[in-house]
Amino acid sequence: MEVTSQATLTAEHVEAFKKIVGEAYVFADTDTLQHYSHDETETLSFLPEVVVKPRTAEEISEIMKICNRDIIPVTPRGGGTGLSGGALPHLGGVLLSMERLNSILEIDERNLQVTTEPGVITEVLQNAVIEKGLFYPPDPSSRGSCFIGGNIAENSGGPKAVKYGVVKDYVLNLQVVLPNGEIIWTGANVLKNSTGYNLTQLFVGSEGTLGIVTKIVLRLIPYPKFDLLMLVPYRSLEKASETVSAIFRAGFTPSALELVEIDALRIVSQMVDSYVVPVTDDIAAHLIIEVDGNNMELLMSDMEQIAALTEQYEGGEVFFAEDAQQKAELWKLRRRTAEAVKIAGYTIEEDTVVPRAALPALIRGVKELGARNNFHAVCYGHAGDGNLHIRIKKEGTPNSHGDVVMMQHLRELFELVKGLGGTISGEHGIGLIQKEYMDVVFSHGQLELMRGIKKVFDPNNILNAGKIFDSGLQAG
Ligand code: LAC
Ligand code: ZN
Repeated sequence: MEVTSQATLTAEHVEAFKKIVGEAYVFADTDTLQHYSHDETETLSFLPEVVVKPRTAEEISEIMKICNRDIIPVTPRGGGTGLSGGALPHLGGVLLSMERLNSILEIDERNLQVTTEPGVITEVLQNAVIEKGLFYPPDPSSRGSCFIGGNIAENSGGPKAVKYGVVKDYVLNLQVVLPNGEIIWTGANVLKNSTGYNLTQLFVGSEGTLGIVTKIVLRLIPYPKFDLLMLVPYRSLEKASETVSAIFRAGFTPSALELVEIDALRIVSQMVDSYVVPVTDDIAAHLIIEVDGNNMELLMSDMEQIAALTEQYEGGEVFFAEDAQQKAELWKLRRRTAEAVKIAGYTIEEDTVVPRAALPALIRGVKELGARNNFHAVCYGHAGDGNLHIRIKKEGTPNSHGDVVMMQHLRELFELVKGLGGTISGEHGIGLIQKEYMDVVFSHGQLELMRGIKKVFDPNNILNAGKIFDSGLQAG
């Protein structure tokens, strides 16, 4: 690998940034540097040298020109809720926070589109379009604090993805500042586009390594009028996961089909002080199943049929959420699971994804791996997508990053996933902490193609270097 030397950030650089964005938006004090030194990834923390908060694409362009000329590492950051270390400034340099690019620019009700800046909180955007009867479905658990720009960077999913797809299915066009400071649009605000290479989709999921997204055009759909939610307890984790593919085989497409293992539910129930879900010793896991649409009778009938099917797979007594409050309570439990189990010591999170029918084999494999290697794992996630979050707790090992033994266990896990036809990450990205395992799922040739793409966009390797692949940058 080529190794370039990274320049030292000087007082002149800091002065230049102040001229561009204004003195009030450049920070080098300890508290601010510490605040931006971590996201939600494991317990990792790396201090940036300076935090810069621009307001416009033009300001970002000016900053990038300087950093590109002097080979200063730049780490873009959204809401800081990432789980793969995409926003960790592990090379120091400039932490570029997108928090001031926070306006929804236009909701185009005639074309069902929204144009937004990247620093808008996902839930704020969702609520703004709901007011117009419109729906932007991708809804990561962190939607109350994550930014839409970060969702683009990670190609986020969330519970609704099983019916409505992930971020990539909604992005039409992006304004991007390239590492050399050039500002481009990637596509057009149209629903179909066969015009050349698909630059828009190349940026989706590129984890802030190719350019900095400054405007986003998303397609919207009409908001479904009704939804129904139920919870099904299982004595066997495997039976719960077997039910998942059976539901789709029977012809249903729920708008959410989530699995939560009982250990995770026990922890989150305590944290949010909720008693709506029975947590008894004979239960191993729950399925959360939602259907939505515009015809209530049809939904009731689907729900009854799905409930009958869960019985065939040894599901227990079904709990139907009666009203909006119970639904909100159930979703709160599910959405806060990651946060709760992390606080309880499950600091290492994997984001495996397998073809749906392979889910029981994956869960079996995870448990065996944990038993053999003396770690405890709890599973939860988007079972309908075959996307399983695996949270790992091992005494004395808060991070997988840099821990040779844990990394070997994870390699084994990913080999299992690969053997089942799956891959490493469904929605959290590769970032800093999963790059070591890319060779499990990609050949040398495939990885060289990806590195080649990175080089075309960022020849000096200054933008989020060391994410997805090793950096090739050495501290100067
Ligand atoms: C969730 C996040 C961690 O599904 O992806 O809760
Ligand atoms: Zn998730």
